[in-house]
Amino acid sequence: MSARSISSSRVVCIDDFRPLAQRRLPKGVFDYLDGGAEGEVTLRENCRAFRDVTFRPRHAVAAARAAGKAGTGYILSTISGHSLESVRAASQGPVFYQLYLMGGRGAAEAAIERARIAGCSGLVVTIDTPVAGLRERDFRNGVKELMGANALAKIPFLPQVFKRPSWLLGFLRDGGVPMLPNVVIPNQGPMEMGDVGAALAASAVTWRDLRWIRELWRGPMVVKGVLTGEDAKRALDEGAAAISVSNHGGRQLDGVRPSIRALPEVVAAVNGQVEVWMDGGIRRGADIVKALCLGARAVLCGRAYAYALSAAGEAGVTRALEILRADVERTVRLLGCASVAELDRSYVEVPANWACSAR
Ligand SMILES: Cc1cc2nc3c(=O)[nH]c(=O)nc-3n(C[C@H](O)[C@H](O)[C@H](O)COP(=O)(O)O)c2cc1C
Repeated sequence: MSARSISSSRVVCIDDFRPLAQRRLPKGVFDYLDGGAEGEVTLRENCRAFRDVTFRPRHAVAAARAAGKAGTGYILSTISGHSLESVRAASQGPVFYQLYLMGGRGAAEAAIERARIAGCSGLVVTIDTPVAGLRERDFRNGVKELMGANALAKIPFLPQVFKRPSWLLGFLRDGGVPMLPNVVIPNQGPMEMGDVGAALAASAVTWRDLRWIRELWRGPMVVKGVLTGEDAKRALDEGAAAISVSNHGGRQLDGVRPSIRALPEVVAAVNGQVEVWMDGGIRRGADIVKALCLGARAVLCGRAYAYALSAAGEAGVTRALEILRADVERTVRLLGCASVAELDRSYVEVPANWACSAR
């Protein structure tokens, strides 16, 4: 899809990217991105729960200023097929490296040192992945087989890939299933993509690991995957510079509460000591504004940018950011608020049973 058609009226909100991504990607790839764990309850709730938060606008207030002028940062996953050095070099904004302990401490130590040399702004340590969640769509689509080395095992799952020839061509042009250049196991080399599931299952991050990482990494460490006040306080004790409220986009433990619902409790527990970020279900600028009203200092987007990237590459992501930025600006104006910096709890109403105090 061309940059021009992406910026046309065809794509006016993030939800417009989803069917485009679905049409462009093989079923297994689309489902890997779109799906969640087991019954996908948490995945759906992440989005739906934003509707429980309603706005309380104030009218006849001073003219609102444009919001969202700040640059956008990027968090690179450990499981990326691109080296952290190349991603750092390609971006003008802050780049954070998301760390899993896959491949053992030796591999993690090497990645941390590379992140330091490359000039990453911070480490994001994900703590909600003691094993990979059971993503039933991936199971049915044969994601493990398609990523693995056994050519025969792939055969039943190949038709979905051949139905998307332009995607397949691009995939092959990029070198096919990548190795993981950021998970370099001492004396072995980069991990293979097919080994990720088993490697994740052997690499749960403990509080003791956080302390170890903290000693190696002198820059900011963000702890991602926090859903309770207790865990937030523990993460602070282990030296977190920011807490990221997240349920992994509903891809890990199905049935946990939606991130937006967990946010007030975590904000109360952190009590202003560090920034609180959140992700999960952000599809509109209004979702971002609601999260900021409830105390988030930043929000992170997963699928919102991934649908756009899948549909139209870099032009798609640019358009998605434009849409979200314009949404935020408009929502802040409609709220009668002067700027994003002034958003607070008084602009929203949340259901009475949402926990809002520290436990
Ligand atoms: C396809 C896909 C891959 C992901 N991979 C990772 C990962 O490697 N590490 C991580 O911490 N989170 C990962 N996540 C979770 C995101 O970082 C984020 O928490 C989640 O997508 C937010 O929810 P949203 O998609 O509703 O915005 C992934 C999410 C998706 C959709």
